[in-house]
Amino acid sequence: MNKPTDFARIPVDHDIDTHASSNEHFSTVLEARLSRRSLLRGGAATAASALLGAIGLSGCGGSDNDTVTAPIPPVNNTPQEKLLGFAAVSKSLADTVVVPAGYTASVLYALGDPLTASAAAYKNDGTDTDFENRAGDHHDGMEFFPLSATGGASTTVNDRGLLAMNHEATTDEKLSSHFVHANGGTQSLPRPALEVDKEMALHGLSVVEVRLAGGKWAYQKDSSFNRRVHQQTEVEISGPVRGNALVITKYSTNGTKIRGTLNNCGTGKTPWNTYLSGEENWSGYFTRAATDDAARGNDKSVVSLKRYGRDAGAASRHGWETGGLDDKYQRWNISRKGASIDGSDDYRNEMNGMGYIVEMDAYDKTRPIKKRTALGRYAHESAVFGKPVVGQPLAVYMGDDSRNEYIYKFVSNAVWAAADANPSDRIATGDKYLDSGKLYVAKFAADGSGQWIELSIANSAIAAYAGYKFADQADVLVNARLAADAVGATKMDRPEWCSVHPGTGEIYFSLTNNSNRRVEPSGSSQSAPDGPNPRVYTDMKGTTAQVGNPNGHIIRVKEGATGSTATGFTWDVYLFGAESGAPAGTVNLSSLTADQDFSSPDGLAFTPSTGICWIQTDDGAYTDVTNCMMLAGLPGTVGDGKKVTLNHARANGTTLAVDTYVGKAASADTLKRFLVGPVGCEITGIAETPDGKALFVNIQHPGETTASSNIADPAKYTSQWPSNAGYGAGKRPRSATIVITKNDGGRIGS
Ligand code: FEO
Ligand code: CA
Ligand code: CA
Repeated sequence: MNKPTDFARIPVDHDIDTHASSNEHFSTVLEARLSRRSLLRGGAATAASALLGAIGLSGCGGSDNDTVTAPIPPVNNTPQEKLLGFAAVSKSLADTVVVPAGYTASVLYALGDPLTASAAAYKNDGTDTDFENRAGDHHDGMEFFPLSATGGASTTVNDRGLLAMNHEATTDEKLSSHFVHANGGTQSLPRPALEVDKEMALHGLSVVEVRLAGGKWAYQKDSSFNRRVHQQTEVEISGPVRGNALVITKYSTNGTKIRGTLNNCGTGKTPWNTYLSGEENWSGYFTRAATDDAARGNDKSVVSLKRYGRDAGAASRHGWETGGLDDKYQRWNISRKGASIDGSDDYRNEMNGMGYIVEMDAYDKTRPIKKRTALGRYAHESAVFGKPVVGQPLAVYMGDDSRNEYIYKFVSNAVWAAADANPSDRIATGDKYLDSGKLYVAKFAADGSGQWIELSIANSAIAAYAGYKFADQADVLVNARLAADAVGATKMDRPEWCSVHPGTGEIYFSLTNNSNRRVEPSGSSQSAPDGPNPRVYTDMKGTTAQVGNPNGHIIRVKEGATGSTATGFTWDVYLFGAESGAPAGTVNLSSLTADQDFSSPDGLAFTPSTGICWIQTDDGAYTDVTNCMMLAGLPGTVGDGKKVTLNHARANGTTLAVDTYVGKAASADTLKRFLVGPVGCEITGIAETPDGKALFVNIQHPGETTASSNIADPAKYTSQWPSNAGYGAGKRPRSATIVITKNDGGRIGS
């Protein structure tokens, strides 16, 4: 649900508020000349075949130049058709998925769908149980793993594969996940065990086999590959934090394991074909007694808990700790209760086991799932590899999605070996590359440059930090936010997903929005505009003034000459989100038109087959005009635009001048709206088949704005998707995966 203080849809107890150029081109970029006339012809020819009821017929705007240049990376051997040849879809408030003429979007796999032959069909009336054997809720980040005819790992098969995905959360106006309980659930404490069991099982990961047969994609209910990971699934703690005193619990007195992975948001795929999942807003699921600071002797753990969003007296999102005396409920209460010195008799350290990048082998249920602690602990989104280079360390890029949090890079100690692209043991390969290395945080400079600063206990700014006494490198990783504070990292406008341009290798980060950016900050939670986060303005949503950076932007980084190990970079802003009618010189800095305007970029991914940059929104600022959406972009390179100075007025009449670097303005040929979702959803998760002819996208929490008190009256649901698209029983809205295909069999985005 939207919080009044924030623009994007924010879950209850979300921890987003816990914190207080070059012009060079990469030689690998190919240029393709696109004919604007043929783009227009293609759009008009297919516009009649409207699908799913709502189709935008907006014409291409912009100038009448006959040709433009756009970079297309050298990928696959498929002929390079004209990309972005579709007609942009219009903004929409309809309760449907809108895709361009000539495309079909079909529902593939929704909340509650059975994952075993014996699991019952989903009734979708709140009486369903057995969610350990069903699709979880709030489908989020997702990756496609091709399956060979013999059921082995592949990178090339186009008609059979595994979708691995995150189930981030549930739809909850109050305590209960109201759409999965018959009467909406219990909205006061204590929560019934059966309700808690259901909700815990809805969170985690799933793996589901999908196949193309007879021209239609379907998920395979009885596939032996299908899998659920939920809050009772054992997960190993791997890397430098394994065995550390900070992760000792009653469940794992030697600090090597934990149950579950929680609030999983963005994803990643390793060069050795495994799945990475980011744990995002996990802290909100834990409660801590009002007396717990004193119970802990006000030791340094209190500093850590506050920095990660759990003040003494904090209530948990669902009250799972009240489900009963069993440890599976009690673990959500992280108060110090026991007499032990090390925490082996209670769950005071339980929260230190959440907040990591988690690795899973989607092809092999017998291999352990591992939390890769070397990549640091924070509100993770996606984890994306720079282009692997044989003989060089691997770089993994990541963001911490809270207001005024940071951007990180992990660099492996091991150097990349080509043979590891197809290893016999994928999790052992993860051990090799992800359990030892260096973690860096980004510090952006006003001149368009920046630095990666290593978060090492050997750094005197960290070792001697007055705010927190780090014991060792594991402590630095568990408390990466505090270490990043110590070195003066740059506070960003909520870093969400990142992705690497397959041609240029440049790294793109969504900065979704920030309601705490102010020209004159008040209190430690606000911060002033700077080059990489330059906008502070007011956008109206009806009569509500939205202040700060309501619409977000996408920043991009170009590493220095040494690539993955570079400690210096250059940056600019690829796109600023804005309403097309917003002032051009101060807000709509990327000159977005009505076919391109968007707010709150979140999901962001380049698809390898085409090199298209897909931008997905999780917005609350522009939702009076349009539901959340997905756009297709063909970006250039860092430094292809210009320097802009924003003059912010202070209350005393003086001006704060902020220089920023804006990428080349998008044209009708380089940025188009491709999809708009149903009411109350966010668009997230994106994966393609290797040939680029099927695109899988997740529709998360449609109807989220439904009041829990309206559970008995489907007419009062703000969305009835996907039942109104002909999928499944009942009218309660369900998160779901859709598959998008092109009616002429072409690649998605052409
Ligand atoms: Fe789960 Fe930051 O989005
Ligand atoms: Ca507005
Ligand atoms: Ca997200």
